[in-house]
Amino acid sequence: MATAAPHAAPHAAPTTAPHTRPLPANPGLAINGGTPVSAAAVPFMQTALAQADIDAAVAVLKSGMLRAWKKCEELETRMAQMSSARHAMTCANGTCALQLAYEPLFERGDDVLVPAWTYIATVSMVVARGGNPIFVDALPDTMQIDMADAARKITPRTRAIAATHLYGCPVDIDAVQALAAKHNLKVVYDAAQAHLATYKNKGIGAFGDAVTYSFYATKNLATGEGGMITCNDDALARQIKLLRSHGETDKYLHEQVGYNYRMNDITGAIGCSRLDRLEAETKKRQDAAARYDKILSSIPGFTTPKTTPGATSAYHLYIARIDPTKFLCTRDQFCDALKAEGVPTAVHYPRPLTRQPAFSQFVKDGGASCPIAEKLCHQVFALPMHHGLTDEHFKTVEAALRKVADAYRA
Ligand SMILES: Cc1ncc(COP(=O)(O)O)c(C=O)c1O
Repeated sequence: MATAAPHAAPHAAPTTAPHTRPLPANPGLAINGGTPVSAAAVPFMQTALAQADIDAAVAVLKSGMLRAWKKCEELETRMAQMSSARHAMTCANGTCALQLAYEPLFERGDDVLVPAWTYIATVSMVVARGGNPIFVDALPDTMQIDMADAARKITPRTRAIAATHLYGCPVDIDAVQALAAKHNLKVVYDAAQAHLATYKNKGIGAFGDAVTYSFYATKNLATGEGGMITCNDDALARQIKLLRSHGETDKYLHEQVGYNYRMNDITGAIGCSRLDRLEAETKKRQDAAARYDKILSSIPGFTTPKTTPGATSAYHLYIARIDPTKFLCTRDQFCDALKAEGVPTAVHYPRPLTRQPAFSQFVKDGGASCPIAEKLCHQVFALPMHHGLTDEHFKTVEAALRKVADAYRA
């Protein structure tokens, strides 16, 4: 089973992170030389290709037609249908997808409401477009963008909302659309982590002006690199297609300036092959999340991730939270001890975007207006999440959580 590292954290934890504390000596913990719960680590993710994926890529290689063609078109048709969208457009990666979606929807100098709590690309592409990001806090239960805070932060120059369906869980789409309708805002949903998530029994492609996806090597639908935009407006779809390929309307006729952000058919073929299994794999992720909910609810000191009412999460990540007041250790010390017991974890994310040096010119209050995001960065940790988790893996996770929690309880 192959595993791949998640995106590396670009910076150390915020300076306000609780300092590492000396911990009670507990020789039973594996981190102190005791016997680990499991000698073999639970795989954090599962990214191995199936033989069918390899065969699909080889068939394209043998055909000699490597450019974006039939396999990209097939991926577009199927993803449009599966996400309840009218149009789907493949592109080079999820970052390009955001850039392609933002460019036609707002102008340089516009204010754009963005989550303080998400991966950097949602916001860095707003900045690349020339927009001013206005950081919105997260909800404490779902960890998704807080639309009441967004409403408070509207300015006369606000033109758009960029909302991430973080960890695979759709945001409160009704609230986003209501605010957008009231203030005439464009809406882009970043679904890089949320393929096949639903809201009110529809695919997430049914909502907003555009929805973007990533097929990065660790995503639920992984092709190595790759991305997609879905939308329901014919004119916008045309604009995005033009931008994706140098504004070309006929051979060497360029109606506007654009980019080369195209996918290729090797990537398209891997995507189509993996798409055959995505529904079944998503169901397994949802089952795994239900098992983790049950385990964590029975151990005091943890909070389970809540799903937005009316939504189903694709559980790209299962993000638990530790209550630092209930333990003698920090989150990082807890995770180090879990790792020694055979349970790897990861932190998404070690700091809110309001504390990213890249955005310092847009943050005047040091992040004080996003207090929930400030808290989350010290509390969140991701447990292993993928379609290949076994009963044995869940037993290991549960035993390790109990062992470390008992050793470090305040
Ligand atoms: C929420 C979110 N948006 C955008 C991206 C960017 O996607 P890509 O890595 O395909 O450019 C990612 C990738 O990690 C992501 O998690």
